[in-house]
Amino acid sequence: ATVPDSFDVIVIGAGPGGYVCAIRAAQLGMKVACVEKRATLGGTCLNVGCIPSKALLHSTEHFEEAKHKLETHGVIVGEVRYDLEKMMGHKTKVVDANVKGVEFLFKKNKITWLKGAGSITAPGKVAVDGKEYAAKHIVIATGSESVPLPGVEVDEKRIVTSTGALELEKVPGHLVVIGGGVIGLELGSVWQRLGAQVTVVEFMDRLAPGLDLEIGKQFERAMTKQGMKLKLKTKVTGAKASDSGVELTLAPAAGGAEEKLSADIVLLAIGRRPHLAGLGLDKVGVKLDERGRVEVDGHFATNVPGIYAIGDCITGAMLAHKAEDEGSALAEMIAGQKPHINYNAIPSVIYTWPEVAAVGETEEQLKARGVAYKVGKFPFLANGRARAMAETDGLVKIIADAKTDLVLGGHIIGPDAGTLIAELAMAIEFGASSEDVARTCHAHPTLNEAVKEAALAVEGRALHI
Ligand code: FAD
Ligand code: NAI
Repeated sequence: ATVPDSFDVIVIGAGPGGYVCAIRAAQLGMKVACVEKRATLGGTCLNVGCIPSKALLHSTEHFEEAKHKLETHGVIVGEVRYDLEKMMGHKTKVVDANVKGVEFLFKKNKITWLKGAGSITAPGKVAVDGKEYAAKHIVIATGSESVPLPGVEVDEKRIVTSTGALELEKVPGHLVVIGGGVIGLELGSVWQRLGAQVTVVEFMDRLAPGLDLEIGKQFERAMTKQGMKLKLKTKVTGAKASDSGVELTLAPAAGGAEEKLSADIVLLAIGRRPHLAGLGLDKVGVKLDERGRVEVDGHFATNVPGIYAIGDCITGAMLAHKAEDEGSALAEMIAGQKPHINYNAIPSVIYTWPEVAAVGETEEQLKARGVAYKVGKFPFLANGRARAMAETDGLVKIIADAKTDLVLGGHIIGPDAGTLIAELAMAIEFGASSEDVARTCHAHPTLNEAVKEAALAVEGRALHI
């Protein structure tokens, strides 16, 4: 079929933000095209982010379980080995199924995939590989890329970003991770479970600095107990790669004497930044903010009429579900609806084991805002299901407003924390009080009962501790 050259909406980028925006706009009756330069749809998340990393996390969790945990349950498996090629094969299959799934959804919703790199040539005009298309609405959803570090040159072989770390051909003897954030800890866990010694070099005095401090401390202990070496308050000042490995130079964050550290592989994971190169934003005059993100108003509109932006390339958490919700909301706004995103109710999860999950505010944030709050906590050690699973590390922590009892924050470290946090995200979204959560009947025996007990604990009336 010939490709039309005029659309209601052209979305640039087919990640979770862009492809969801395209689907929702098509559902609402608009004629939609989505430009994607990668050979497959799905963006960072499906190709080199959320999905492949979770496949490897899952596979290596099974290995770890077979090696160290099944015996507790009286399951004897004998010698446990891994087959890295097969593990990577599973990851590839999962990625393939997901990206093809998006392609199927595009066909189902009659969305045109314009293959190639897109640029905005004028308001209402998008060029893809030399051909120009017209659109009433243009959506920038070009995502993000790994932040470089001067003196540490990425070659995706010895010195890798997350993309290279998802593809290593063999388990490194010593993996040094620069940046103790989400990527470093998730992918560090993957390779550590397979036998690598992992050292994490973190600039700040704690891992994943955005976490509630108490949960962060427990997380640090859990990672250390698993054998991860942490070098906090430390910066990397240089890296020399050779055939035999990488020689890193480290220094205290506050300055001082340098030291050397040898690694087989170095994973650079110090954050991500908007990916806007080649889009032509300067030519059409789209404004960026002080951190190089596309500046938008409360309705995702840039300063140029008809041009919008969503996802990792604008302000806010760089998370797939945040991008998706923005994509959907923007399509609805363009169609004249009035959707609303509650940014305070966006959960975030670190998929290590134990998992760490959070929604709403931390104690530190509430203190800084001068809000009076109450805290309820419940350890998994006192939860029957966690005991049955032999997964008793961790706790649920609920923070509620001292006066109104509204749930202000939920913080969980423990088994399946990422799934458990949904209940507290919904509590915040619905404006529930901790008493609402406490009075909701929770099935027994489930891990969710720890959430109910933490809610009861807000008023000092937990039953099982
Ligand atoms: P992206 O997914 O980055 O998609 C942007 C797309 O635009 C890309 O496909 C790119 O090729 C395309 N593009 C860019 N410029 C152009 C152009 N000029 N023309 C055409 N196409 C273009 N988030 C979670 O919520 N949970 C997780 O578990 C999670 N795990 C992650 C693991 C890793 C290793 C990484 C790196 C990220 C992870 N994230 C996770 C973050 C998540 O991937 C991002 O928040 C999400 O992908 C952002 O979606 P997006 O649509 O804004 O951009
Ligand atoms: P991050 O922001 O999570 O962590 C970066 C860490 O590097 C921070 O702790 C920071 O203090 C540290 N750092 C910064 N500069 C440094 C330096 N020069 N030397 C040493 N340490 C330094 O970023 P990360 O891990 O790269 O991930 C990027 C983003 O991708 C995340 O913020 C998240 O939005 C997304 N992501 C989400 C996942 C999830 O939801 N499970 C999984 C993976 C990524």
